Formats: sequence, structure tokens, C-alpha cells
Amino acid sequence: MTQTQEPSVSTGDTPFVPIEKIVSLCKRRGFVYPNSEIYGGVSGIYDFGPLGVELRNNIRRFWWWSMVQTNDTVVGIEGAIITHPRVWEASGHVENFVDRLVDCKNCKRRFRSDHLPEENVRLNKCPVCGGELTEPRKFNLMMETYIGVLEGERMKTYLRGEASQNIYLDYDNVLKSSRMAIPFGICQIGKAFRNEVTPGNFLFRQREFEQWDLQFFVHPSEMQQWFDYWKERRFEWYQSIINHKDRLRFRPHGADELAHYAKQAFDIEYQTVLGWQEWEGIHWRQDWDLSRHSEYSGQDLSYTDPETKERYLPWIVETSGGVDRTFLNLLIDAYEEEPPSGKDKEGRTVLHLNPLLAPVKVAVLPLQKNKEELVTTARELHAKLRRLMVSQYDDVANIGRRYRRQDEIGTPFCVTIDFTTLEDQTVTIRERDSMSQIRRHMNEVPAYLLERVRWDYSV
Ligand code: GAP
Repeated sequence: MTQTQEPSVSTGDTPFVPIEKIVSLCKRRGFVYPNSEIYGGVSGIYDFGPLGVELRNNIRRFWWWSMVQTNDTVVGIEGAIITHPRVWEASGHVENFVDRLVDCKNCKRRFRSDHLPEENVRLNKCPVCGGELTEPRKFNLMMETYIGVLEGERMKTYLRGEASQNIYLDYDNVLKSSRMAIPFGICQIGKAFRNEVTPGNFLFRQREFEQWDLQFFVHPSEMQQWFDYWKERRFEWYQSIINHKDRLRFRPHGADELAHYAKQAFDIEYQTVLGWQEWEGIHWRQDWDLSRHSEYSGQDLSYTDPETKERYLPWIVETSGGVDRTFLNLLIDAYEEEPPSGKDKEGRTVLHLNPLLAPVKVAVLPLQKNKEELVTTARELHAKLRRLMVSQYDDVANIGRRYRRQDEIGTPFCVTIDFTTLEDQTVTIRERDSMSQIRRHMNEVPAYLLERVRWDYSV
């Protein structure tokens, strides 16, 4: 991605949301904070606040539920961030995981040469000030670290540049310990680290980020079938969590942009103010990983078919996406500033998040703060609900402002305790998107809400 951003106009019906609005909402409402902010921050590294951590957990849980829990042929692992340094020689990262960067001799800006517009490459000109660019230099993205305490005896290794390597390292252990047989898959969610040359666009390109991977091991003759299968499944998965379905597409990689391990690749892309950008990669890794790790470790990682006794090196279909990009894209996809209308005279900012992913599921609101019975009843209901889902109690400000506060963080339901509640035990349930309200008996509220915030997606 170049450092210049495209204008915030959508080709469709709704304008694209400027990233600055999402950054501001995230800071103001406790989704995301700049890391080490009191020391001036670190470029490309972020912390997640109280609402951010809830949203991330929901995103992770939904991925795990749909990829691992509901698939009999897929199991999960959680590998370490630090591995033996030979892993990264075998994987090709020490040699090949490089970006080419150029500097502008005039304004000193730095660019990835593969992100420069063609015209600027041809004329060797800076896209910002028109100054002359330096020759491209190779820059390895792996972050180094050291194991051991004594100088001279410390071993240099790397924070993992892609989380998926643990899966190849543990593949044989999983096979032997979990009675899986090919075709089968291993999933993992975990942090990855890259010394990105041009981190930026908020969570889009960071130096510390989280990936989710499926590595699906197949017989070479079935590679195409499984590649197509997982490509479609993953596309459907992303479609199921967004509102703007027309902003999702596949893009095949050209031969010149394939990663060193991929023979074929498709990106699932999402369109935002940044243009069409990768959300997840579907990679045809073939036998690259298992053959390289067999060679470098000396351990034969080939597989013997229990029935035919055929011995072969399995090929791998990889689906690799980002928790952080999902987090960012979902906020962009959900964000809307609604003008004043008959239903809301002041207008509101609302996050139309899928209820199963929303950080807070319900807010319990007594109509007035100074009426003890309203407050006590609301607190009792909140205490019941918070055991089942994330619930917030709020009695500060008038009811309209409290609704808007919840709309802005994507809370799908607000339950209001009013004077009628004290007479007949019924409460108002207000739905975020339509702002419609219904009355239900208080005892029915937990079941009513649970039915609406549960995971409802078939794979
Ligand atoms: N194991 C394959 C692999 O790592 P990748 O396309 O480099 O493939 C997979 O990364 C996903 O990780 C991307 O689709 C993106 O969602 C996420 N990702 C990659 N680099 C990132 C970065 N610097 N910041 C945030 N997310 C990133």
C-alpha cells in the first residue's frame, strides 16, 4: 500500500468511512490505544482496551468455533512465539522474507518499492515531493531476539514472522497423539512479528499482530479439490460477518507477487477507504514446508497411508488471515453516522456489528437514577445477565443519551426498567439497528437475549 490514501468516497451507495473516525472512536471508547503512549508511542504497535479485548475475544472464538469445534477433521494447537533458529532457515524466511525499500533523497520519506506507482518506479521519482529515489535495498522483516544469559553463549533466534511454522513443527506430534489421518487440518491463532518497512493505516499494517491459520494436509492428488473447498469456505465465513457484502472479493496473485512458499495464491480482499486490500490469503503451499523441515531437521516427515501403505509427503492448503485486520475491517464495515430522523431527533453514531461479535451484548438501564426501586430492579437483572453474556449497567444521563452511548459501541440490545416494570414485571427491550422496542416479562429476558446473540452459522 502506498502512503497516500484514496479519497473517502465509495463507488456503492454508502461512503467509505475515513480511518481517522475509527481511530478516534477506538481511543475514545476504549477499543484501541497507541502502545507506550506516555513515552511517545511505538510505530506499528497497539494495545487493546476493555471493549477491544471483548471484541477480539469474540472474533477469535467465532473463528475457532467455526474452524475447529464444528469440524471433525480439524484440531487446534497453540505454539510458542520463539522457536529454534534453524526453523527460519528451513522456512526460507532468513533468506527470502525481505522487502525492497527506497528512500527519497529530498524529503527522506521511505517506501516499499513494490508499493510505488509504476510511473514513479519508471522515473525514479518520489510520489510525494518528486525528489530522486535511492537504489532499492533489501530489508529482512524478521525480528531478532536472543536466548540465554551469558555474553558469547547467547543464541540468536527470531520472534516468529508467521505463526504457521509451529503447525509444521507439531504436525508429526499431532498425527501421533490425536489419531488424525490425512486429509486433516491443524489450526492456530497467535502473534506474529514483522519489522514492517512502512507500518501504518492504524491496525492494517503493524509490527506485532495476530494471525489465524488453517494448515490442511492432503494427498497431492486431492490438492486442487481441497484448495477450492477451503477457498470457498473462507469466503463464506467473511461474508457471514459483514454488512457490505459487495465489498468482498477474491484476487489471484500474479506470478511476480507469490510468496516464496506458494505455488498459487488467492487473497480475499475487502474494499475500504484504503482501496481493495488483503484480508486473508489462501495459499497452495504444496510440500514446501514439510520437505524443507524434513531436510533441515533430519526427521522424515512423510506419511504412510494406513490402508494403502503408500508413503508420501503431504501437500498443504493454507488459509491465513489476521485477527487485527478482521477487527479493523469489522469496525469500518459496521460504522455509520445516522442523520437525525423521526426515530432519533439528534442523529447517532452506530456500530452495526453482528450481535455475536459485539463486545457488549446488553445494557441494563433504569429509567431514573433517583428512584431506588428502579435502580435495585435493574441491578438485579444486570447481575443475572452478566453471568450469561457481557452486560453493562448504566444510570448516568437521560435515557436517549444512554441509548446513543450503547449504539456507538455496537450493543445490540438495551433493556429499560421503568415504572410499569414495578407494576407488572415487564421491561422494554430496544434493538440497536431498528431502534424498535418490545415489552417482555423480566423472567423471559435472559432466554430472549441468548437466542439472539448465540452463534448461528453453519459450515
Ligand atoms: N502464513 C502465511 C502468511 O503469513 P501473509 O499473507 O503474510 O501470509 C496472513 O499473512 C495474514 O496476516 C494477512 O492476510 C493479514 O490479514 C495478516 N497480516 C499480515 N501482515 C500483517 C501486518 N503487518 N499487520 C497486520 N496484519 C497482518
